[in-house]
Amino acid sequence: MDLQYQSGFGNHFATEAVARALPVGQNSPQRPAFGLYAEQLSGTAFTAPRHENRRSWLYRLRPSAGHGPYAPYLQERLQSGPFAAAAPTPNRLRWDPLEVPPEPVDFVDGLVTIGGNGDVSTQAGMAVHLYLANRSMIDRVFQNADGELLIVPQQGALRLVTELGLIDIGPGQIAVIPRGVRFRVELSGPARGYVCENYGQAFRLPELGPIGANGLANARDFESPTAAFEDVERPTEVIQKFQGGLWMATWDHSPLDVVAWHGNLAPYRYDLARFNTINTVSFDHPDPSIFTVLTAPGETAGTANVDFVIFPPRWMVAEHTFRPPWFHRNVMSEFMGLVTGTYDAKAGGFSPGGASLHNAMSDHGPDLASHQAASAADLKPHRIEDTLAFMFESRWVIRPTKFALETSALQADYDACWTGFPKARLP
Ligand SMILES: [Fe+2]
Repeated sequence: MDLQYQSGFGNHFATEAVARALPVGQNSPQRPAFGLYAEQLSGTAFTAPRHENRRSWLYRLRPSAGHGPYAPYLQERLQSGPFAAAAPTPNRLRWDPLEVPPEPVDFVDGLVTIGGNGDVSTQAGMAVHLYLANRSMIDRVFQNADGELLIVPQQGALRLVTELGLIDIGPGQIAVIPRGVRFRVELSGPARGYVCENYGQAFRLPELGPIGANGLANARDFESPTAAFEDVERPTEVIQKFQGGLWMATWDHSPLDVVAWHGNLAPYRYDLARFNTINTVSFDHPDPSIFTVLTAPGETAGTANVDFVIFPPRWMVAEHTFRPPWFHRNVMSEFMGLVTGTYDAKAGGFSPGGASLHNAMSDHGPDLASHQAASAADLKPHRIEDTLAFMFESRWVIRPTKFALETSALQADYDACWTGFPKARLP
């Protein structure tokens, strides 16, 4: 089934799965069409400035308030800020890919947290999760009251069946599910990927400054679903993440029963191949912020709660320049993942599905083999092909979980990639 989407980042969309279901000219009629129930879903405070305000009006078969109490649901690999279970380490960390387990596991049960920062109770900070799943969520949906979810598939396609409609994504694409929106994840095979949980202000497109009116991720390439609903009268497990804990209530119907909606709070997807990659055409490698797809600002201007940055296929043309990322230390903290191919600062050891973490002020950069190759390279125009690395970069230190520090996937010898550099020889 080919899905229909509405284009544009943060647009005020209007969509109905049944003709005349959407009220015209007002949000809350005395009697909505067909006896539907109107519900406002607010992603910001009512009084947030107009350019920040995000909300949608949903018209559904039943009010979503009609359910019983939630009880705790055990899934201890999914963790939240504050991340205090393990002491943060200044060491650079890198992980081999985790494998999708053979036993049946769906998206929610297959989430495992690598680390994070901040605190869900103050709506600041972020978490990094991996998902390792091999079956669809069956008669269950998930809702995250703690933040929005940026999903980066690395292996396998996902169908996101959300309250606001259906979204298909696979490796090379991303999707964002706003805080509070209920959804189910359906798979067509084993699935592995990364999730950035953003506790703070919602992701938005970065400012473009002197770049101008166009470039990087263009607003029209973001796609939100059209209204779609299911009328399912059988028990459905609704799992929600609330203040770091998981809770479950069994509803007597599917909550994915929104027949029409309008507004600017909606899930969306984006094809990373549409990113208008900008880089030098003279010399020197710009700061990697030039590759920012989405940013979730912090309270201080210019310091992100979390940025989503990609390293896509691109031409390298810099003259008299060391072309890969340089050695650096950064006040920001960098979690990196790899969707496909290799990353140009590492000759080996960083595999698709794997990850690395370079926290604030940790020394990193090209490994020895990459440095030697780039230093000796003939600086012809060169296209980096078949690669897609990304970074979740935060102003706060990403504190690893106990799982992340104890898993056998953690590489014991990561530091070794920066050994063997010959000392500079002064005249
Ligand atoms: Fe870095």
